[in-house]
Amino acid sequence: MVPSPENTVAVTCGPPIMIKFTLEALKKLGFEDENIITTLEKRMQCVVGICGRCNIGASYVCKDHPVCSYAQLKQLANEL
Ligand code: FES
Repeated sequence: MVPSPENTVAVTCGPPIMIKFTLEALKKLGFEDENIITTLEKRMQCVVGICGRCNIGASYVCKDHPVCSYAQLKQLANEL
């Protein structure tokens, strides 16, 4: 399957290694960062903002952005 990036939003979830390669493939197809949505659930443990396991910089993945665009993910990566 080769989806067109025109008027399309791609949503990914699953194991981090699969997401990594899916993001790369979507970029090669021409998807804009804002039109790729993904999850960061692997970082979470309690999912209610108590354990602190999921923090990236000053934010918590579970409370602030469990689902984000690839553009947001790139910004978060700068805080890792
Ligand atoms: S998963 Fe525990 S604080 Fe986010």
